[in-house]
Amino acid sequence: MKRIASLLTSLTMALAAPAQAQDTVTGSIATDQPGPVISRNIQGQFAEHLGRGIYDGIWVGPDSAIPNTRGIRNDVVAALKAVKVPVVRWPGGCFADIYNWRDGIGPRSARPVRKNDWWGGLETNAFGTHEFFDFADQIDAQTYVAINMATATPAVMREWMDYLTSRADDTLARERAANGHAAPFPVGFVGIGNEAWGCGGAQTPEYFATEYRKFATFFHKNGATFHMHNDNTALRVASGPNNDDTRWMEVVLKNAGPMMDAISLHYYTVWHGDWTQRNSATALNFPPAQWNEILYQAWRMEPVLRAHEAVMDQVDPQRRIGLFVDEWGTWYAPEPGTEPGHLYQQNTLRDALVAAETFNIFHAHAARVRMANIAQAVNVLQAMLLTQGANMAKTPTYYAFALYRPFQDATVLPVHVTAPMLTAESGQFPAFTISAAKAQDGKTYVALANADKDHGYHLALDLGTGKATHVSGHILTAAKLDAHNTPGQAEAIAPAPFHGAAIQDNRLAIDLPAKSVVVLSLD
Ligand code: AHR
Repeated sequence: MKRIASLLTSLTMALAAPAQAQDTVTGSIATDQPGPVISRNIQGQFAEHLGRGIYDGIWVGPDSAIPNTRGIRNDVVAALKAVKVPVVRWPGGCFADIYNWRDGIGPRSARPVRKNDWWGGLETNAFGTHEFFDFADQIDAQTYVAINMATATPAVMREWMDYLTSRADDTLARERAANGHAAPFPVGFVGIGNEAWGCGGAQTPEYFATEYRKFATFFHKNGATFHMHNDNTALRVASGPNNDDTRWMEVVLKNAGPMMDAISLHYYTVWHGDWTQRNSATALNFPPAQWNEILYQAWRMEPVLRAHEAVMDQVDPQRRIGLFVDEWGTWYAPEPGTEPGHLYQQNTLRDALVAAETFNIFHAHAARVRMANIAQAVNVLQAMLLTQGANMAKTPTYYAFALYRPFQDATVLPVHVTAPMLTAESGQFPAFTISAAKAQDGKTYVALANADKDHGYHLALDLGTGKATHVSGHILTAAKLDAHNTPGQAEAIAPAPFHGAAIQDNRLAIDLPAKSVVVLSLD
């Protein structure tokens, strides 16, 4: 007997015989049992002042020869707009923990130049508050601002919030208008603290909870306590645990839960699940055996979410507080020849599988996971886009997001199917994951991530009361495990039409190739 995974909505484990690659794996989509809505925000992005994430990646300046709108790259905006990025988190990350928002307003020529003490190099502050909101506006995304609660004070936070949101005729609102923006900025979410257990001050959960309560008090959120008419309507996101640190979750929720709208979680896919070993895996040219270990580490997101949700369900049974996975993705050794602190890594088919597998997990946890922000949007870690001078490449991860776009605000349809388990150095994980949802356009979408690099699977899924008769779709795959795209070169990997699915007698038959992401549309 070998362990296999039962891909119910809860993705629980079960015991059964292993399926052979050529067997037909049967299952069903419970089209008559709609689950929670998948927040569009789980397809969110993270853009930090780190390496070439902002400068080069997003900001080139208005005088650049690279086509731009008010200094922001047109190619990057078009690409992000095309996948309907729902929300962007900024300015960090660890950078947020040292950021002084006042450095990033006013005439750019007068802005101070500071050392970026976390990631190296100089921070010109050319990209600040107004530029960030312009960028978000250009890509039609909501904004998620991380305030500095590590090296700044509640007073500094309060001033920034008033500068951003005040509708009154006060000095901060006048200053904002003098800097070119009379109307308040649309601030959707505010992170209070970032990695408070690490670069945000190496705090204990007890100490952080106390500090958080103080910051949240002076945050003056509209509707909180007696603040019924405040201009600040942003949701408050407390700095949450790293990885599987459920003690952090418990202590912070118990002590400060009523003063937050969401709590964050950071989970990176790193070699052996150990951040100190992050440089032991490379994005490119990896031995085939490394494929499974990375996909296994990505799969661990599932038990990590379950562990945190168990704690949250105890403290917050009404599920008022959202879980925001506001940093996730693969973290490999930096590309040879690049500045190590810039965390620049290539991005391959394997990363697309990580993204798709992770989305399927998030969909199964949609009741609590209401935002996620991949780290990061451009040129940093598991990036959506890579730029080199005037050239830009869309990564396989970008294309995974493009395929999953219909799942934004779609309603989960539970999938019951059993996948064989694959073995990695550190554990076992399901060969494939599947999620399904009824989308806003009325169609049913089925997403499949086959992490098995060696075998395809034949699937037959009963559609229950669903009345679909027609299926079409796209596939993302390639011959090479590390297929990737390079700025300035022809694309080596991109989605293609998929012809391996059919509906007959209300059964969806899928011929799922090895190492592939497939998204089907049923109507
Ligand atoms: O995304 C890179 C860094 O990873 C972020 O700055 C920090 O929050 C995390 O440790």
